[in-house]
Amino acid sequence: MNIVRTIADLKKDIRHFKLDHHSIGFVPTMGFLHEGHLTLARKARTENDTVIMSIFVNPLQFGPNEDFERYPRDEERDIKLAEEAGVDLLFLPSVEEMYPEEPAVTLTVHKRTSALCGLTREGHFDGVATVVMKLFHLTEADRAYFGKKDAQQLAVIHGLVDSLNVPIEIIGVETVREPDGLAKSSRNVYLLPEEREKAPAIYRALQLVKKSVEAGEADIALLKEKARRMLEEEGGAEIDYLEILSYPELEPADSASGTIIAAAAVKYKNARLIDNIILPVKGSASCSAQ
Ligand code: PAJ
Repeated sequence: MNIVRTIADLKKDIRHFKLDHHSIGFVPTMGFLHEGHLTLARKARTENDTVIMSIFVNPLQFGPNEDFERYPRDEERDIKLAEEAGVDLLFLPSVEEMYPEEPAVTLTVHKRTSALCGLTREGHFDGVATVVMKLFHLTEADRAYFGKKDAQQLAVIHGLVDSLNVPIEIIGVETVREPDGLAKSSRNVYLLPEEREKAPAIYRALQLVKKSVEAGEADIALLKEKARRMLEEEGGAEIDYLEILSYPELEPADSASGTIIAAAAVKYKNARLIDNIILPVKGSASCSAQ
């Protein structure tokens, strides 16, 4: 595995891949790698000649009171794990390399951001879209892999690629979970032991929505209420949101038809966790979750 830290070195390697007509799969991450990230890399490995992963904690997508400074980092371990997952080229730029000066142009996302994390994380998805667009240009990838764990991010990236005609295929990958259902996340290390014990309630509450929908319940307000009650009783944390919306548009879902997303964000002492399930509701015309 080759490790590059500068855009100039990255470009040199990309030139070689292109001369060899290699297809390029790209996995953007912020590091502190876990099975979720590695699953994206392994999938990219099976579908492309060359796999590029980036590790960059992007300051543009963190708000002033968010955890940019204390976002977990472990470069040595990440390098080992990326190599084991079959990454060919690891791009590890510094903030100065990515943003040598205040950018003259950044992107603004207009749709799919007025709900869920977009409500409280102002500017977050603008920062994600901007860095992802830069990384798409830098890597010249044919395919990019994103987790459904961050379903709103995935919806925004689809919107970005569609709106700006970016020549790249976006692949959404299923959420990887701990055996007890908790979605893998770099931020799980910040859970206190008693919080870690309770956190799987997030997934249980989302599963309750799934089971209720499968049993024929179509009243969104009722579905939300049931799930919220379970999460309040068992989650041991303040609920930031628990929503059921259409997917990928993230608009109010007035009944359980079409593709819907049940999504939750909860605030533990040192970590805000998010999770979701996407439900292709039977009998509807649009059953494919993007
Ligand atoms: P990060 O949180 O490091 O996640 C990198 C990728 O891994 C994202 O596509 C995310 O959805 C995916 N991922 C995280 N946990 C997962 C899990 N449990 N199962 C499956 N996939 C999972 O998301 C970002 O970084 C950044 O916003 C980024 C896209 C890199 C832009 O800065």
